[in-house]
Amino acid sequence: MDIKLRLEITETQLKFITADADEVLFGGAAGGGKSYGQLVDALLFALKYPCSHQLVLRRTFPELEHSLIMNSLQIYPASVCSYHVSSRKWNFRNGSVIEFGYCQAESDVLRYQGAEYDVVRFDELTHFTESQYTYLLSRVRGTNGYPKQIKSSTNPGGVGHTWVKSRFIDGAVPNEAQTTDFGTKRLFIPSFVQDNKFLMKSDNAYISRLKQLPENERRALLYGEWEIFDGQVFTEWRNNPSGYKTRRFSHVIEPFKIPKEWRRFRAFDFGYSKPFAVSWYAVDYDGRVYNYRELYGCTGKPDVGVKWTAQKIADKIIELEAEEREAGCKITGVADPAIWNATGGSDGSIADMMEKRGVYFEKGNNDRLAGKMQVHYRLSFDEEGLPMIYFFDKKCPGMIRTLPELKYDSTNPEDVDTRQEDHLYDALKYFLMTSPIAPRERMPEPETEDWSPLSSEPEKRFIV
Ligand SMILES: Nc1ncnc2c1ncn2[C@@H]1O[C@H](COP(=O)(O)OP(=O)(O)O)[C@@H](O)[C@H]1O
Ligand SMILES: [Mg+2]
Repeated sequence: MDIKLRLEITETQLKFITADADEVLFGGAAGGGKSYGQLVDALLFALKYPCSHQLVLRRTFPELEHSLIMNSLQIYPASVCSYHVSSRKWNFRNGSVIEFGYCQAESDVLRYQGAEYDVVRFDELTHFTESQYTYLLSRVRGTNGYPKQIKSSTNPGGVGHTWVKSRFIDGAVPNEAQTTDFGTKRLFIPSFVQDNKFLMKSDNAYISRLKQLPENERRALLYGEWEIFDGQVFTEWRNNPSGYKTRRFSHVIEPFKIPKEWRRFRAFDFGYSKPFAVSWYAVDYDGRVYNYRELYGCTGKPDVGVKWTAQKIADKIIELEAEEREAGCKITGVADPAIWNATGGSDGSIADMMEKRGVYFEKGNNDRLAGKMQVHYRLSFDEEGLPMIYFFDKKCPGMIRTLPELKYDSTNPEDVDTRQEDHLYDALKYFLMTSPIAPRERMPEPETEDWSPLSSEPEKRFIV
């Protein structure tokens, strides 16, 4: 059968398609053409090797349906193959099969028990767990003499970030296959969004949108960097002595007397053997926030709580707010929704007990990722160096110490590691989620590379 296909591919997609290592990872920036590369590679393999079997996986069915399946319907030529919706299979006239699958639950891999594939392809590999991956390695086998490979594509991030990084990237030279202890070959092919001129041409604003992400996500998705997640979450944080009085390019500033008319808030995260956190905020007429006081129930030893009862915390709050209350200031409370469930003994929930003492709270929104983004947006500096949140020097030492120390979670690198001292951070999120702000234009930062989609030459294309 003589078939003519007209598909243009990028130079890195060609590297991926021709890679012959046993395990290949096409990894890096979002939009680099990795998933498209998988589909073209699968198509070419199916055509080249009659009666071959391939499995293409995403973690969940909706993701699979909206990305790979939809795109394959656009790319795969009806003259050589047809798609069967119920079995999620492309059947080729030469007998080859490309099957689409997903493994949402850990045990979903068992669906492939007994199956045999020439190539298994994982798209967004970091969404999978290592045990799902290694289980499916064993499904790659057969006696037909065709190449047997596991080919994956992914952005950095996701639950599997750490194992994927250590399997393919740590200690490896990009584009050079490394030999494993079992004598097999593993290859990492980095992908950059700049590789993909197809996207650049059709969506010029794509890069600008990526540039507005917080630093870590930006470096992962724009530059395809894998190291970022080892570090600090709030890289925007600055405690800059030269901005102490000017309030520019510093989050920590000289305290001042807060005008009586500004709105005030109190945010609360309960803890007993871990520290509890109460954090007070004032909001000026521009919507800028000032963290002006805190009550942090920490023994002085990091992350060890003082074991106060809810009543004792409430009494202390009243004492600290006495002057403001006398002056007629209204303070709106917001707290971890869990304090309405947690039992405080026969007196009801912690919230009930505090209410009896005259300390009221509204239920906070505990959407972790939305809250984290609010902290990023607030900390960002505008062109004049003004952030949307400040912290009063010496009045909130716990926050000033713990917020910049927070690290990403190694098993869920998009979120803050909750095993750290994150109690004041949690209180801050409950407060910020009461009036979320829109993403803010980031202060211009030095570029890490001088590439621009508009200035570059159209890249060499390959016709297959
Ligand atoms: N060789 C190509 N020809 C045409 N369009 C392409 C090609 N490679 C990628 N694209 C398009 O570029 C966009 C991003 O590619 P995709 O494979 O989704 O990137 P990634 O998986 O790396 O995030 C998609 O719209 C895709 O259809
Ligand atoms: Mg993709």
